[in-house]
Amino acid sequence: MARRARAVAEAKAPAALLLRLTPAVEPGDFHAMAHPSIVVLSGAGISKESGLDTFRDKDGLWAKVRIEDVATPEAFERDPGRVHAFYNERRRGLRNSNVQPTAAHRALAELEQRWPSEVLLVTQNIDDLHERAGSHKLVHMHGELLKARCAHCGALDGGLDDLSIELVCPACREQGGLRPHVVWFGEMPLEMDRIYEALGRCGLFISIGTSGNVYPAAGFVQEVRQVARARTVELNLEPSEGATLFEERHYGPATEIVPAYVRRLLADVA
Ligand code: APR
Repeated sequence: MARRARAVAEAKAPAALLLRLTPAVEPGDFHAMAHPSIVVLSGAGISKESGLDTFRDKDGLWAKVRIEDVATPEAFERDPGRVHAFYNERRRGLRNSNVQPTAAHRALAELEQRWPSEVLLVTQNIDDLHERAGSHKLVHMHGELLKARCAHCGALDGGLDDLSIELVCPACREQGGLRPHVVWFGEMPLEMDRIYEALGRCGLFISIGTSGNVYPAAGFVQEVRQVARARTVELNLEPSEGATLFEERHYGPATEIVPAYVRRLLADVA
């Protein structure tokens, strides 16, 4: 991560819950139960094999474009056309018929359906691949690419294609207020109360396909170890920033390691 981008993110993140980049945390301890409630955190790595770019891999989005040009409120204020163009392109990419959920997305939907206790899927991803795979108990903490939000009336609209400053909000008829319904650096991620409530009582926390660079999501593993004292599992292509905080770790492509892990969890479930 470029030093300047980190400075931008941190300067805009005085409160614990704002989207920000911060260093690693201290280990706690944890325990396991028979069929504990589960919180799954997913990141860009789970959608990589669907054909969507991650952020911090060598070929990731942040290697091609700077965070401070497209993913901050200041960038949008300065040059809304550029920010719209960035998200319009990503929206078109997501709607490409080649981009489909994988076995990893489907395995999590099956886990939600068959696990005897609650499974809450918290995703940092703004794509809709989890819901297309059949997940229902899902929180998009960084927003949703396919939705626009009106700065004037707050209405969400999921039916628009390319966004621009000329567009009129279908709800309030005001022009120029529509923005991507995504959380930018320095903004508050969504549904944090619901997420922390689930983290506080889960017995198993599974982190999938995330590099552990962006807070507050990167702090969830420490939260469950200290507050819920839950078992923690990392499933990723390679060790994340906070890898040593996870009791159990499996590395490989999400399409292999996620279905395999879910199969093991469900082995004794009727
Ligand atoms: N299977 C599993 N993991 C993978 C795969 C794969 N096929 N390909 C890549 N990964 C892993 C990478 O090794 C990396 O650890 O996925 C992780 C992706 O990390 P990031 O690109 O940093 O994405 P993420 O952690 O989701 O980013 C968090 O940063 O810029 C923001 O708001 C954006 O939600 C995003 C947040």
